[in-house]
Amino acid sequence: MASQGWYDADIDHVIITEEQIQAKIAELAKQIVADYAHVDRILLVCVLKGALMFMADFSRALGQQGPPVELEFMAVSSYGQGTSSSGVVRILKDLDRDIAGRHVIVVEDIIDSGLTLSWLLRYLHSRNAASVEVVALLRKPDAIKVPVTVRYVGFDIPNEFVVGYGLDYAEHYREMPYVGVLKAAVYARE
Ligand code: PRP
Repeated sequence: MASQGWYDADIDHVIITEEQIQAKIAELAKQIVADYAHVDRILLVCVLKGALMFMADFSRALGQQGPPVELEFMAVSSYGQGTSSSGVVRILKDLDRDIAGRHVIVVEDIIDSGLTLSWLLRYLHSRNAASVEVVALLRKPDAIKVPVTVRYVGFDIPNEFVVGYGLDYAEHYREMPYVGVLKAAVYARE
């Protein structure tokens, strides 16, 4: 493991390394630059808080090769403090500006049940974006409850609760540069 942080001791096993994440981001950015060659600018919509790391790295990768990008942030909540989806989606922070006529790419850290994204896509379409696509770093195919169209996916992962690279357990572990599974003892001590 390349990194050395307080959190390493709590990790049972690593799912995706820092190097794998960064290589995948470069690959996704290259693909999106090619697909969006015809547009003059892209509006990235980051879904806080989990997607913050991915947004920061992905927007910079895109910026090195693509058209200008603008960054917008939304915060919605579906999990609470537990480890499984509730299906309840609340807007905690809305978009700051009109997205009508804009080419929007939603930047998500993880698609679990798909409930958050399904709701979000309906919402963004209702605000008359010219196009709406999704780039998600992680997806759990075995956890999906509603079908969602995701054009760009970094990694399909097993249906385990993962933390790191923006993903939290009770607001901890977001600062990890890699994605891993917590030791059972961590839950026992909460
Ligand atoms: C996580 C994640 C996605 C959503 C995915 O957010 O960032 O937005 O859950 O789950 P779903 O596919 O089952 O809907 P969370 O609500 O944990 O908030 P956070 O990003 O602030 O941690």
